[in-house]
Amino acid sequence: MNIHDFIRCKQRKQKISMITCYDYGFAKIINNTPIDMILVGDSVAMTVHGFPNTLSATVDMMVTHTEAVARGAPTKFIIGDLPFMSYRKGLNSGMQAIEKIMRAGASAIKLEGCEGNLKLIQHSVASGVPMMGHIGLMPQSVFSLGGYKVQGKDSASQKKLLEDALALEQAGCFAIVLECVTEEIAQNIAQELTIPVIGIGAGRYVDGQVLVLQDILGLNSEFKAKFVKTYLAGEQLVNEAINQFHQDVLTQVFPEPKHCFSL
Ligand code: KIV
Repeated sequence: MNIHDFIRCKQRKQKISMITCYDYGFAKIINNTPIDMILVGDSVAMTVHGFPNTLSATVDMMVTHTEAVARGAPTKFIIGDLPFMSYRKGLNSGMQAIEKIMRAGASAIKLEGCEGNLKLIQHSVASGVPMMGHIGLMPQSVFSLGGYKVQGKDSASQKKLLEDALALEQAGCFAIVLECVTEEIAQNIAQELTIPVIGIGAGRYVDGQVLVLQDILGLNSEFKAKFVKTYLAGEQLVNEAINQFHQDVLTQVFPEPKHCFSL
């Protein structure tokens, strides 16, 4: 899949699936599934590194995880996230961050917000880098938003969301992520745009859906958002397996002769 395929998906009303991934092992598994795109999200700061929010993600962190995912999923379209502040200190340093993440194996770059980002998006697109926007709830702005809240609840912010979405499309983004907005607003934005709108907490009427891998697999029981669907009791299964191994060691059930080398 490439950016032209994603636009064709939208034209044909074929939904697009996107999943986050941060490491080689899971990337290998995802590479053998029909998932359309992988996002190496800055959510890695929370899911893998245990920080309380995404503000701790750095360009070096994104590069390391993008490299690992690219090694595991060589046939997938991989989007690398620009971390907090890496694209807000001028075109030059923004382009340097983009270059590092692209050289790490990304096929495209995602960044949060519209205002102040349009020049960087235009310059990146003109330089051959596919760009994905991200509006609605923007986790890098959690402190100015006053928490992880549904966005676009009043008419002024609804108007701004649509304006931003159109401006991102105009600047050359091949798709946008729309996070935590009401279904009606998301539907309207998806209808107005010719590029795919990938929703997370944006309801049913967008062009695709993205979820965090750990949420899908039930590996993060502390996080229970309304928009998450958990497909596996991952935490419980992993816990049971590790407990069983511990018991087997204590009771000498493991190792068995078949696990041992002999002369
Ligand atoms: O970093 C991330 O995981 C994201 C998704 C929530 C879209 O940006």
